[in-house]
Amino acid sequence: MFKKLFGKKPEPQVELVPSGATFSVGRNKTVLEQALENGLAYPHDCTVGTCGSCRSRLLSGKVDAITPFGYTLSREELQAGYILACQAIPESDLRIEVDLPDAEEAPVTVGGRIVSVQDLTHDIRKVTWQVDAPLRFKAGQYMNVRWPSGPGHRSYSFCHAPAPEGSRTVSAFVRRVPGGAFTEALFAGELADTEFAIEGAHGGFWLRPGEGPILLVGGGSGLSPLMSLLEDAAARNVARDVVLLFGGRGERDLYCLEDIAAIAARWEGKFLFRPALSEEQVDGVRHGLVTREIADAIAELGGSQDLQAYMCGPPPMIDAAVAELTGQGVALEAIHYDKFTDASSAAGARA
Ligand SMILES: Cc1cc2nc3c(=O)[nH]c(=O)nc-3n(C[C@H](O)[C@H](O)[C@H](O)COP(=O)(O)OP(=O)(O)OC[C@H]3O[C@@H](n4cnc5c(N)ncnc54)[C@H](O)[C@@H]3O)c2cc1C
Ligand code: FES
Repeated sequence: MFKKLFGKKPEPQVELVPSGATFSVGRNKTVLEQALENGLAYPHDCTVGTCGSCRSRLLSGKVDAITPFGYTLSREELQAGYILACQAIPESDLRIEVDLPDAEEAPVTVGGRIVSVQDLTHDIRKVTWQVDAPLRFKAGQYMNVRWPSGPGHRSYSFCHAPAPEGSRTVSAFVRRVPGGAFTEALFAGELADTEFAIEGAHGGFWLRPGEGPILLVGGGSGLSPLMSLLEDAAARNVARDVVLLFGGRGERDLYCLEDIAAIAARWEGKFLFRPALSEEQVDGVRHGLVTREIADAIAELGGSQDLQAYMCGPPPMIDAAVAELTGQGVALEAIHYDKFTDASSAAGARA
């Protein structure tokens, strides 16, 4: 009877800023689900609330979270109104700030085979796939790789600058994860003749325009997209001041030192490389967690004004770095990261 009197409750309307795209969201659907059904290239990857790719800022309205956003987003991000679109069910009309990629940047899937595997450290290898058709990406983005016996896709960030006409070979730094489906098979040499499906490019991790300094923070294989970003920026003669912080446990975790020195030599602005080792004491290398180097790095870059930060690596390192950066006055909008989550992160998020 009430239904007859008052009619059906209208579906919540969502407006995306700055694109201006609008759509209404069906009952019990997430913002991401509905955006994708409406043909929008809303950034996403895992769809289960662990990777952070669909991180967006709620400008107005109210959402219900299927899994608490706080499993993946930092306290600072929650306070600033960030949500995960894949976990957000609208409870009212919404305005959401999110960068939608251009239509020509939509991911494509190509076939590929591993053509080289090179040792970089005791647990990191540079893996190169030859792909059947040129793959376009922005420096800093990642690809999703699938293989016939695999349990699902795995994400790997390109470690090199993109070729303008698309890359025929694509490489990433891959760290061995004990018990991991892809990395154990790779390190055991079992994937040599395997046909891969490679989907790319994904992610919103690329160098934003600007004049201010750049702080890069990486841990483990998190150096992969940072090298891509730096190689590309050096080739484009970017002249902004840079500090690259890299964290490992011991000296054996350091790699790409010659490549970093080569980029530093041709960089047009100031370029400082600061590795930090949390366990081993090594002459000339900072001792401690890499995130403790952030305050000094910001000072060396002349303060947090106009500074942009780019970070990749294990989720705890990113969370600590976001807290440190915002504490030092860096705006959340100027902080960009990819958390290298894996199957254990997804399980942990639901524990
Ligand atoms: C955006 C993005 C970019 C990335 N880029 C890179 C990169 O450039 N380089 C890189 O090395 N990595 C990167 N990663 C991580 C990468 O995608 C893989 O997650 C990682 O290599 C592990 O894959 P795997 O198949 O070996 O392990 P998985 O099979 O995913 O297993 C990982 C761990 O979880 C455990 N596990 C598996 N299932 C469960 C479960 N149900 N419950 C609890 N634990 C479980 C396994 O034993 C193992 O210890 C990236 C991740 C993301 C999201
Ligand atoms: S797509 Fe939403 S967190 Fe991964």
